[in-house]
Amino acid sequence: MHIDDAILPLRIRGLSYRPNGRAVLAGLELELGIEGITLVLGANGSGKTMLLRAICGLIEPSAGRIEWGPAGEGGRPRAGVMMLFQHPMMLRSSVLDNVALGLRPLGVPAPERRRRAMAMLERIGLADRAGDSARQLSGGEQQRLALARAWLTGPRLLLLDEPTASLDPSATAEVERIVREIRTDGTRIVMVTHNLGQATRLGDDVIFMAAGRVCEHTPVQRFFSRPQSEEARLFIQGELPWHMRF
Ligand SMILES: Nc1ncnc2c1ncn2[C@@H]1O[C@H](COP(=O)(O)OP(=O)(O)OP(=O)(O)O)[C@@H](O)[C@H]1O
Ligand SMILES: [Mg+2]
Repeated sequence: MHIDDAILPLRIRGLSYRPNGRAVLAGLELELGIEGITLVLGANGSGKTMLLRAICGLIEPSAGRIEWGPAGEGGRPRAGVMMLFQHPMMLRSSVLDNVALGLRPLGVPAPERRRRAMAMLERIGLADRAGDSARQLSGGEQQRLALARAWLTGPRLLLLDEPTASLDPSATAEVERIVREIRTDGTRIVMVTHNLGQATRLGDDVIFMAAGRVCEHTPVQRFFSRPQSEEARLFIQGELPWHMRF
C-alpha cells in the first residue's frame, strides 16, 4: 500500500543550494530508480544531509529542479516522501502512541491506529515496551521506533540520515534488518552512512559525494572494487578496515 506512486523515478537536474553565496550543493545531477536501497557516502560536510533535505523539500534550491515520477513533474515533494533524522523526534507519550502517531494524518480511526501500531511493535521487537515512555528508550530503540512509525505509513521513498551513527553492533544489525524489510515491502530507500561495511551489506548502489557534488553513482560492488574518481579512491583507502570485510 503506497499513498502516492507518482514519485519514482526521481530525477535531480542541475540542483544547487548556495546559502550566503557558498555552494553547499553544486549542480547535482542524479537519477533514483523505482526500487532498491541507495547508500550515500562522503566525507563530513560533503552535502549528504543537504541532499536529503533538498529531496524532502526542507530547503529551497537556489537553482535546478527535481522531477517526480514517470511524467517528470516538477513542484513540491509528495506526501509519500519521508525523512528520518539522526536523532528521531519522540513525543512525550508512550511507545505505542508514538508509533500510532504516523497514521493520524492518514485519517485512520484511533482504535485501528493502536491495533496497527501494536502489530508493528511486534514486528520490530518492541512490543513489551508499548506502555513505556518513548523518551526513556535507548538511542537504538528510538531509531527502531522511528523506523516503525515511518514504515506504518507505507512511504514510497524513505530518506534515512545516519540511522545507525551512535548504535552498537547489535543495534546496528537490528536497524539494518528493519531497513531491509521496509525495502522488501516496496519502499525505495536512500540512506546516508559513514559505515562502509554497512554500505556493502545493505546497498544496491552508492552515491558518493564530495564538495557538494555527486562524484559517483554506481552499483555498490563496482564502487568498492573500481572507484572511478580519485576522491572516492582516497575515501575508501581511509576506511580500509571496513573495506577488507567486503
Ligand atoms: N543553512 C546553511 N547555511 C550555510 N551553510 C550550510 C547550511 N546548512 C549546511 N551548510 C553547510 O553545508 C555543508 C554540507 O552540510 P551537510 O550537513 O550536508 O554535510 P554532510 O555531508 O551531511 O556531513 P556529515 O557527514 O558531517 O553529516 C557543510 O559545510 C555545512 O556547514
Ligand atoms: Mg550529515
